[in-house]
Amino acid sequence: MTWILYIHILSACAWIGGSIVLFGLGVFIRDKATQEAVYGAIGPFYGYFETVWLLILITTGVVLADHYQLFGTMQTGTEIGKYFEWKMLLVALLALATMIHLYIAFATHKTTRTLIQTILSRGGSLAIFILNLAILWVAVNLRSAL
Ligand code: HEM
Repeated sequence: MTWILYIHILSACAWIGGSIVLFGLGVFIRDKATQEAVYGAIGPFYGYFETVWLLILITTGVVLADHYQLFGTMQTGTEIGKYFEWKMLLVALLALATMIHLYIAFATHKTTRTLIQTILSRGGSLAIFILNLAILWVAVNLRSAL
């Protein structure tokens, strides 16, 4: 299981690291034209790159959870069970926010967005950013409780 945990943590670094870099770029680049040029150029690569790491992260997570028989701890009221339930809930929300964000990103690439699309896309990025930090916190606590 050491290798699976290693790949799980490596993908968490790539997934969360990537989201922090993109968030930072959004804050750092204020000029609208430069922002559009940068996101237009790296957007599709970033989308595929992040999706691959998220899929590896979830797959290795399921293998680890199965190894530690964590699915059976849900609804038992134990400390491990509670951390695991939180992690599953947050990961489900993260997957949803990522799907919405990616759908809008690819559907509106290099076109003008409607107000709803802009709100959903920006709200999605912010949700992904916050959820990542929360999942990391729960992951460390879950690991300590194992
Ligand atoms: C965005 C998604 C995820 C992130 C960022 C993430 C992050 C992490 C990190 C950083 C650790 C190591 C914690 C430490 O060593 O202190 C970890 C461990 C673990 N994760 Fe995840 N994880 C994610 C998704 C999942 C999913 C979907 C599952 C299960 C279905 C899962 C199950 C586990 C388990 C069981 C461990 C403990 C493994 C061990 O101690 O050997 N993770 N996770």
